[in-house]
Amino acid sequence: MERYADLVTHLQTVLPPDARPSLSSSVIPTIIHCIAGIAKALRTSHQVSLAGTANAFGDDQLNVDVLAERTIRDEIARCPCIVTASSEEEPIERPAGKSESNADSEGSEAYTIAFDPLDGSSIIAPNWTVGTIVGIWCGASALHQSPEKKQIAAILGVYGPRTTAIVAIRLPGSKPICLELGLGDSNNDTATCEIIRGKVQLQQQPPFKTRYFAPANLRAAAEDERYMKLVTHYIEHKYTLRYSGGLVPDVIHALVKGHGIYVSPVTATSKAKLRRLYELAPIALIMECAGASAVDPTTGKRILEDPIKDCDERGGLVCGSPDEVSFVLESFGLQ
Ligand SMILES: *[C@@H]1O[C@H](CO)[C@@H](O)[C@H](O)[C@H]1NC(C)=O
Repeated sequence: MERYADLVTHLQTVLPPDARPSLSSSVIPTIIHCIAGIAKALRTSHQVSLAGTANAFGDDQLNVDVLAERTIRDEIARCPCIVTASSEEEPIERPAGKSESNADSEGSEAYTIAFDPLDGSSIIAPNWTVGTIVGIWCGASALHQSPEKKQIAAILGVYGPRTTAIVAIRLPGSKPICLELGLGDSNNDTATCEIIRGKVQLQQQPPFKTRYFAPANLRAAAEDERYMKLVTHYIEHKYTLRYSGGLVPDVIHALVKGHGIYVSPVTATSKAKLRRLYELAPIALIMECAGASAVDPTTGKRILEDPIKDCDERGGLVCGSPDEVSFVLESFGLQ
């Protein structure tokens, strides 16, 4: 039986006919299956401990980071059209398959996966919601490519009381898609997934019932007057604070509620922290497919404008409702 047959059928109906059949029948179901597998593994990982290693960026690795990384690597090795992969835990692009067989399909459909297996290490011990971030690129590398044209899909997995996923697809020349899935237990062939919403879309016009703000790296407001003023603006205008410190749940909040602004600024004393390849690019694609904006807080440019040259490139992030994003850029003197 085909995995996630309903999802595959749905994707085939909404995507242009004959557009990238393996993307909907193989690549996306594979990643969804990884997310279900990680969710299951997290439920039984009662101890969250340091694995005794650091990843290539010098971050301490947790046992659950290693587990999530391994789950994804094992699954994608069995998906013939995923030819290359790199991750925040192992930030070097290399063949995704164990043998050479994955490279064979390069002629037809070939994809590169760039992922952060478990985002939110600092809030996992208290059992807060964490996530997985995946970018899907056409071709054998995600580096030195136009993110706009080559990153054609992105998936966020959300591990909270429920397991959900957001899937965004934007093929050149066709309408962007953004949907929300609810995932059931993964028992290989019986894995289930339900389409919770076929169209995830931010509300484009006021009136907004409630306006939400998520000020990341709030400490930076102590030394950056513009950020302090921006946060004060939200408080004075009675925005509702929704911030957990987990990038995935914090941006998904806006997608579910239809409004929100997430600000992770870069200031003189707080450096850019988010990885462009593993965090910023996939999140920006999801946001854009849902009618939101995602820009760089130092240049004001769209996150997806420039190619990524190195797996370690980092930046800040302003994303959410388009008018709110413009307001942040104005406040930062960029517009
Ligand atoms: C963590 O939270 C989930 C629900 O979100 C719950 O099912 C699980 O038992 C919790 N685990 C621990 C160790 O508290």
